[in-house]
Amino acid sequence: MAMLAALAATLLASVVAFAHARFGGVWALGQPASQPIPFSHAVHAGGLGLDCRFCHAAVETGPQAGMPTAETCLACHTRVWNVTAQFAPLATALAQDTPVTWASTHRLPEHVRFHHGAHVQAGVTCQTCHGQVWEMPRTVKAEPLSMGWCIDCHRDPAPRQGPVEHVFTRDASSGPPPEPRFGLAAHPVLHQGVSVSALTNCSTCHR
Ligand code: HEC
Ligand code: HEC
Ligand code: HEC
Ligand code: HEC
Ligand code: HEC
Repeated sequence: MAMLAALAATLLASVVAFAHARFGGVWALGQPASQPIPFSHAVHAGGLGLDCRFCHAAVETGPQAGMPTAETCLACHTRVWNVTAQFAPLATALAQDTPVTWASTHRLPEHVRFHHGAHVQAGVTCQTCHGQVWEMPRTVKAEPLSMGWCIDCHRDPAPRQGPVEHVFTRDASSGPPPEPRFGLAAHPVLHQGVSVSALTNCSTCHR
C-alpha cells in the first residue's frame, strides 16, 4: 500500500509539474507588470488606431523595438487628459531629460541574442510573437519566448512568413503566400555532408 501511494504521489507531482510548465505558469504568460503610468494599448493602438512604429520606432531595423519618449506622449497629452495625477511621471521624465522607466514583461536572459529588424524584414508579424497587443488594456506576454518556442519556428519558418508590407496590418489570416526565402534560411551550411540551416545553430542565438 505504501509503495502504491508513493507511486501515485510521484505520478501526481509530475503531472502537476508538467501542466505548470505547459500552461504558462513558469513563463509568466498573461501577467501584467506594475507600470509607472497605467498605459493601455487597447486605447492607443486599438481605439485610436496608432501604428506600432509610432511608439516603437526602431522595430523595423534595430535589434530592439525602442520605447516612446515622454515627448511622444505629451504631443497629445498636453491637450488630452493632462489634468490627472497619472501623468506625473511624464513631467518628471521631461524635466530630468530621462526616459520613463517602464517595467518589461518580455525580457530574455542575457545569454540570448534577438533582433527585431531581422524578423520584421523576414515578414514575421508582431502578433506571431506578442499576440493581439492592440486589444490589451494592460500589456502581457502571450507566448513563452522559450528556446523550444524559438526553435519550433526556426526549423521551418516559411509557413509563418508573409510579405513584409503585411507585418503591420494586424490581419493574420489574409495575404498572399510567403515570398521566397532570403537571409540566413536561404544559405544552409554543410556540416559533415549534411545541409543544416544557420537558423538552428546555437551560435545564431547565443554568442
Ligand atoms: C502610443 C504609444 C504606443 C503604441 C502606438 C504602441 N505601443 Fe507598445 N508600448 C508602449 C508603452 C508606453 C509600453 C510600456 C508599457 C507597457 O508595457 O504597457 C509598451 C510596451 C509594449 C510591449 C512590451 C514591452 C516589454 O518590454 O515587455 C510590447 C510587446 C509592445 N508594446 C508591442 C506593441 C505593438 C505590437 C504595437 C502595435 C500594435 C504597439 N506596441 C503600439 C507604447 C506604445
Ligand atoms: C520573432 C518574434 C518577435 C516578433 C516578430 C516581434 N517581437 Fe517584439 N520582442 C520579441 C522578444 C523575444 C522580445 C524580448 C527581447 C529581448 O529581451 O532582448 C521582444 C521585445 C519587444 C519590446 C520591448 C522592447 C525591446 O525591444 O526589447 C517591444 C516594444 C516589442 N518587442 C515590440 C514589437 C513590435 C511592435 C513588433 C512588430 C513590428 C514586434 N515586437 C515583433 C519577439 C518578437
Ligand atoms: C495620438 C495621441 C496620443 C498619444 C501619442 C498618446 N495618447 Fe494617451 N490618450 C489619448 C487619448 C485621446 C486618450 C483618451 C482615450 C479615451 O478616453 O478613450 C488617451 C488616454 C490615455 C490614458 C488614460 C487612461 C486610459 O487608459 O483610458 C493614459 C494613462 C494615457 N493615455 C497614457 C499615454 C502614454 C503613457 C503615452 C505615451 C507612451 C500616450 N498616452 C500617448 C491620446 C494619445
Ligand atoms: C515565427 C517564426 C520565428 C520565431 C517564433 C522566432 N524567429 Fe528568429 N527568425 C525567424 C526568421 C524568418 C528569421 C530570418 C531568417 C533569414 O534571415 O532567412 C529569423 C532570424 C533570427 C536571427 C538572426 C538575426 C540576424 O542577425 O540575421 C536570430 C538571432 C533570431 N532569429 C533569434 C530568435 C530568437 C531568440 C527567438 C525566440 C525568442 C526567435 N528568433 C523566434 C523566424 C522566427
Ligand atoms: C532560435 C534561437 C535559439 C537557438 C538556435 C538556440 N537557443 Fe538556447 N536559448 C534560446 C532562448 C530564447 C533561451 C532562453 C529561454 C529562457 O527564457 O529561459 C535559451 C536558453 C539556453 C540555455 C540556458 C538554459 C535555460 O533553461 O535557460 C542553454 C544552456 C542553451 N540555450 C543552449 C543552447 C544550445 C546548446 C543550442 C544549440 C544546440 C541552442 N541553445 C540554440 C534560444 C536559442
